[in-house]
Order: sequence, then C-alpha cells, then structure tokens
Amino acid sequence: MCSISLVLFLLAFLAPLVSSANNPNIILFVIDDLGWNDTSYQGSDIQTPNIDKLAEEGIRLKQYYVQPLCSPSRSALLAGKYPYHLGLAHGVITNGHPYGLGLNETTIADHLKKGGYSTHAVGKWDLGMHKWEFTPTYRGFDTFYGYYDADEDYYTHKVGGYLDFRNNTDPVKDEDGTYSTFLFTKAIEDAINAKSDSPFFIYGAYQSVHGPLEAPDIYLNKCNIPYPNRKIFCGMMLALDEGISNITSLLQTKGLLDDTIIILTTDNGGQTALGSSNWPLRGNKATVFEGGVRGISFVWSTKLRKSNYDNNAMMHITDWYPTIIEGIAGMTLDTKGLDGFNMWDTINDDTPSPRTEILHQLDPPRYDNERNPFIGQAALRQGDWKLIIGQPNCSEKIGPHLVGNKCPNGWVHLNGTIEEPEVNPSLTWLFNVKDDPNERNELSASHPEIVSKLKERIEAYNATHIVQMSPPIDPRSDPKKFGNVWTPWLD
Ligand SMILES: *[C@@H]1O[C@H](CO)[C@@H](O)[C@H](O)[C@H]1NC(C)=O
Ligand SMILES: *[C@@H]1O[C@H](CO)[C@@H](O)[C@H](O)[C@H]1NC(C)=O
Ligand SMILES: *[C@@H]1O[C@H](CO)[C@@H](O)[C@H](O)[C@H]1NC(C)=O
Ligand SMILES: *[C@@H]1O[C@H](CO)[C@@H](O)[C@H](O)[C@H]1NC(C)=O
Ligand SMILES: *[C@@H]1O[C@H](CO)[C@@H](O)[C@H](O)[C@H]1NC(C)=O
Ligand SMILES: *[C@@H]1O[C@H](CO)[C@@H](O)[C@H](O)[C@H]1NC(C)=O
Ligand SMILES: *[C@@H]1O[C@H](CO)[C@@H](O)[C@H](O)[C@H]1NC(C)=O
Repeated sequence: MCSISLVLFLLAFLAPLVSSANNPNIILFVIDDLGWNDTSYQGSDIQTPNIDKLAEEGIRLKQYYVQPLCSPSRSALLAGKYPYHLGLAHGVITNGHPYGLGLNETTIADHLKKGGYSTHAVGKWDLGMHKWEFTPTYRGFDTFYGYYDADEDYYTHKVGGYLDFRNNTDPVKDEDGTYSTFLFTKAIEDAINAKSDSPFFIYGAYQSVHGPLEAPDIYLNKCNIPYPNRKIFCGMMLALDEGISNITSLLQTKGLLDDTIIILTTDNGGQTALGSSNWPLRGNKATVFEGGVRGISFVWSTKLRKSNYDNNAMMHITDWYPTIIEGIAGMTLDTKGLDGFNMWDTINDDTPSPRTEILHQLDPPRYDNERNPFIGQAALRQGDWKLIIGQPNCSEKIGPHLVGNKCPNGWVHLNGTIEEPEVNPSLTWLFNVKDDPNERNELSASHPEIVSKLKERIEAYNATHIVQMSPPIDPRSDPKKFGNVWTPWLD
C-alpha cells in the first residue's frame, strides 16, 4: 500500500520530466542571406554536399516564404507573427537603434524552456540590444554566444570599429582573428556536448553568408568560379557546409542523430550585389519579388513519416513557431494572435496546407530621407496570385539601390548582369506565381478584379493601423562610453 502510493507519487512527480526527456532535440539553423541558387541541391554552381545530404534525405520546402529583411524575418520566426503585427515590418535593427522585439511577446525559446528544453542561441541576434532585457539570455535562451547587430566583420567581430561579441552577457575579447564560422560551429558543438537529461533547442543563427565578403583561403582555394564576389561567397558557403557536417558528425558520435530534428531556413533572399544568387527568381533581398521572399528551407530527421521529397504546401516563416512548439515539442499553445500555422502533419503526410495566403509586406509610407528606398509598400499572396503595391519606384532616381546601385526589380544573372524590367510607374504588380514563378508576366491590367480583391484584403490587415517602429540611432549608444564594446545603454 505504502510502496504503491510512493511509486504513484514518484511517477506523478517525474511525469513532466520524463515526457520532456522524450522530446526530440531541435537544431534550427538560420542561414543569413542564403539565396535560392546558392546550394548544389538547388542546382547551384557552389558545391554544398553536406547541406545537400540533409536536404535530400529530408523534406524540402519548395513553397516556403520568409520576409525580405533580417530583423523582420527573425522576429516572425521567434514570435510567430507577421512583422507588421509586431511593429517591425519596416527595416533592420542595427546597433544603436533603441527598439526591438516587444517584451510582451513570448519567444519559441520561452515556450521550449518552460517545456523542459535547455535553450541555446548562437550567432546573430538582431532583435534589439538597447536594454539587457531585449537580449537573448532574457528572451528564453539559457545561453548565448554571438553578436547583436545585423552584420559585422567575420574575423575581428567588430562593427564600426567596436567589438560586438558576447558569451552570454560577457564581451569576448580573445577571438580576434578567428573566422566566425569556426567559432559558431564550436559553440553549437559545446551546446550538444553539454546535453543533460533534458532535450536541447539550439538556435544556430550563423553569420554566414551575409556580407562582408570574407572567407579563409582553405575554402576559397576550392572555389573555381570566375566571378570575384561569387568566388568569395562560395568560400563562405564551403566553410558553412563543413560546419554543418561537423555538427551532424558529432550528433552521430554521441548517438543523438535519431533523437534530433534539424531544420534549416534562410532569413531572406540572397544579396546579389555580394555574390549570392536567386536565379531564376526575380529580385533580391529587401524586395518582395520572389527572389527576396521565396526562401530555402528543409527539415531533416530519421523519424519523418514521409521523407526525401519536395513539399509544395504554402508555408511562411511564422509557421515554425506553432510547428515547433505544438508539432515537434508536443506542447499546447494558445494560438490567439498568431499568424503561423502548425505545419507538422502537413509536411509529414504531404497533405494540403492549412495556409491559403501570406502577407509578404505591409509597411506604411515614410517621409524621412533615410537611405532605405523600399518605402510605402504592401504585398499579399492569395492562392496562386500575388499583388505588390508601392515602392520601389524605379522610374525615379532614388537610391542607392541594393543591387549594385541598380533598381532591384529585375533578374540578376550569375555573372552579375541585371536584366532590367520595363518601367512600371503605376507601382502595381500582379503575378500568377504558380504559372509564372519568375514573375515575368505582370497581369494587373488584364485582371483588375483580382487586383481589387487583393487590395481589399491588404486594407483589412491595415484596418487596425499599427505604427512600424524605426527610431533613429541614439547617440548615447556610443561604444566609447562602454569600454569600446557595443553594450545595452538604456538600463
Ligand atoms: C540555378 O541556376 C542554374 C543555372 O546556373 C539552373 O540550372 C538551376 O535550375 C537553378 N536552380 C533553380 C532551383 O532554379
Ligand atoms: C504587445 O504590444 C504591442 C504594442 O502595444 C501589441 O501590438 C501586441 O499585440 C502585444 N502583444 C501581445 C502578445 O500582447
Ligand atoms: C562561455 O562561458 C562559459 C563560462 O561562463 C564557458 O563555460 C563556455 O565555454 C564559454 N563558451 C564559449 C563558446 O567559449
Ligand atoms: C570541422 O572539423 C574539422 C576537424 O576537427 C576542423 O578542422 C574544421 O575546422 C571544422 N570546420 C568548421 C567550419 O568548424
Ligand atoms: C514613379 O516615379 C515617376 C517618375 O518620377 C512618376 O512619374 C510616377 O508618378 C511615380 N509613381 C508613383 C505611383 O508615385
Ligand atoms: C551574363 O550572362 C547572361 C546569361 O547567360 C548573358 O546573356 C550575358 O551576356 C552575360 N554577360 C556578361 C557580361 O558576360
Ligand atoms: C495603412 O494605413 C495607413 C494609416 O491609415 C495608411 O497611411 C497607409 O497608406 C495604409 N496602407 C495601405 C497599403 O493601405
């Protein structure tokens, strides 16, 4: 009697621990600025055998969409909402900007930590650093090893001459000269080696393959590519591919492969001015043409119900939030206010997507003279149709533009040649993305009823107009006041 109740008591006490211990480990790789045509499984001139192997054995998401820029996309990923609903649609949060992902938002890491996971963020943050409470170890991550800004030097880990590199909250001053792909791979390996009874969630947000164009010679020497930027970009990709291989080898050595789900996603389309390729898609990072928003992503696990196939269900980066929390970790989630859908069964069983539309962008017009020319723009996909309204107006000389100072609306060939489209001063583009994924045939004139229908839908999203934050850089953030290290300055 007594021993039975003791057993029952112990079982009740251990149940939550046991269930979380059975949950799979999750590694979520976020590759910065990875373009549509930068991996060999996509037909690229760059050889990425290790990434290919995971993609080929897994589920390749071929109708998967991200946001056009990094902070908006990363906020959508970690909070499960369109950036417009977070006030973050407008642009990139760089060091010195006094804003970030709202503190009232619960991140994926917050949920998983509560569900018994140990949580680790490695690499780029880019979701706010003006106060400590906006930085990763206050946003659900047990550990952080990386940098706060959108980009920095791969070797010095400096931005504008000042260090931006932290282990948790401590500045890392002794890694000057070490290429970040080595450091971030090692930090991910450390997190795997530190595994206890609880499963881990590793947010592996590599610096690669964002600019600046920097790669160690050992990789560059393997890149036989005639275009100078593309050659360096290739070196960056080979280092990344090796890092991912090292991580999967470690999982195998530790017997963790069968218990780990690997997800890889880009944050936005490739930056063609810095060696990436979205060919044959139209446009670039920072645009809402397919080259800016149609993203690379796949899932790998030995336990997928259907694997080694191209999945064509419409999916958006916000969908990872419920997919990971509910679908993979098996937790219950209050989905009120979320824009994401749980896609776990859809992609495992190859069934139709619950999602029928994607708000690619909703960014109100702006009046200041900031350098970003992509102002006042909305874009919506509904079924096979996609409407874009607003900037950039390429018949105006506003610039500098992001694609080698050219209007970013065209098609960029591998050799850097830009095929410019005809000028479209009405700033309304309608495409049937299913029939015409490369957006060669603009159909707004022949389908005005579809234009009106999609415009109405955009206006419905905009009915509760939400202010999109983009305060100017705060001069008080000057790192000189903080020992030459970029540091939260408003605490
Ligand atoms: C990538 O570009 C190559 C030509 O360089 C092309 O053969 C291939 O189809 C492209 N990949 C995709 C996914 O369109
Ligand atoms: C957080 O606050 C913002 C701004 O007030 C609001 O738009 C958003 O809906 C809030 N989020 C939650 C989860 O309450
Ligand atoms: C970060 O610091 C902790 C001690 O605070 C140390 O154990 C760990 O190895 C460091 N991580 C890296 C990647 O250097
Ligand atoms: C991968 O592991 C090998 C062997 O330890 C090491 O030499 C190499 O630098 C690692 N690559 C990366 C990108 O970390
Ligand atoms: C785009 O720019 C051209 C040239 O300045 C101008 O004529 C046209 O009205 C602009 N389009 C819109 C919708 O503002
Ligand atoms: C770049 O490639 C395109 C397509 O193959 C070709 O038409 C164009 O002539 C090339 N441009 C240069 C400068 O080589
Ligand atoms: C959204 O609402 C704001 C404020 O009313 C307005 O300035 C903006 O033009 C609207 N955007 C669209 C795309 O309707």
